[in-house]
Amino acid sequence: MRELLDVGIARLRDSGSESARLDTELLLAFALETDRTTILAHPDAPVGDGAASHFEAALDRRASGEPVAYIRGVKEFHGLAFAVDGRALIPRPETERLVELAELEVVRRLVGAPRPQGSPPLRVLDVGVGSGAVAVTLAVLLRRRGMAEDVQLDASDVSEDALQLARENAVAHAVGDRIDFRTADLIPGDELLRWDVVAANLPYVRSDAVPELPRAASFEPVLALDGGPDGLRVIARLLDQLSGALARNGVALLEIGGDQGQAMRDLAAERLPDWSCELEADLGGLPRVAVLRQAAS
Ligand SMILES: C[S@@+](CC[C@H](N)C(=O)[O-])C[C@H]1O[C@@H](n2cnc3c(N)ncnc32)[C@H](O)[C@@H]1O
Repeated sequence: MRELLDVGIARLRDSGSESARLDTELLLAFALETDRTTILAHPDAPVGDGAASHFEAALDRRASGEPVAYIRGVKEFHGLAFAVDGRALIPRPETERLVELAELEVVRRLVGAPRPQGSPPLRVLDVGVGSGAVAVTLAVLLRRRGMAEDVQLDASDVSEDALQLARENAVAHAVGDRIDFRTADLIPGDELLRWDVVAANLPYVRSDAVPELPRAASFEPVLALDGGPDGLRVIARLLDQLSGALARNGVALLEIGGDQGQAMRDLAAERLPDWSCELEADLGGLPRVAVLRQAAS
């Protein structure tokens, strides 16, 4: 095993990977159908021919730039394992903040303000569902809190491929019957629905910055990354739909790039002048989620 690890690390370093050791350990664990801890604990264990060639094939893919998550077919998000492949963006750790804020909003509304008996479920919409990271995690968290019945979760995407992957992840986490998946350009507009909480991680990379992203990103759908010339083109269109989509006292939580705080404030002031726009920072202090609310009338 040790020899394979050394060869793999050297190969991935040569190919330009900045995490050659970690990648190699993960790929060897994948080839051996075990976990990385086992690899680290038993570096001298023998490796059969089948697993060695499986490892070689995985190394070839990584050396060509493909992300480790696509090769392994899985990515951890908020402590849950998500199936991932080229149909959707690999969920990023920064999006966990969006999920936490959405969960907090739902809990505040269900626990903080007493709701008359027989009230309809709270409606929550995840726009641009991708792999399902936001909607599925939220459904799992609400189930753990015993609040699943109190919330109607919807999720939209323009990409049928992404929606299919999200459905698969929802079923894998036993929340397939808890989320209504819809094909839509941003907010589903075929009915008079209003949502209490809208959460969205839409593409926000400037078009001219997309080719500059790490090579691994070129394996992800460009539709999931490209936010137009200023990076906020898709989000701007969402803002235009919000006043017709949010319930009274509703809130929209929108993930943005760490350098887009002021641009987001300016955009919100232009498109939704009567709304408030607060920015929630990540652990590094960068603005990460814009919180938009209609001013109370
Ligand atoms: C940055 S990815 C986020 C995926 C997932 N929510 C996550 O956080 O990992 C953006 C998603 O928005 C979708 N998308 C892009 N434009 C859209 C539009 N106009 N309407 C709905 N979804 C859109 C993409 O297909 C992609 O799945």
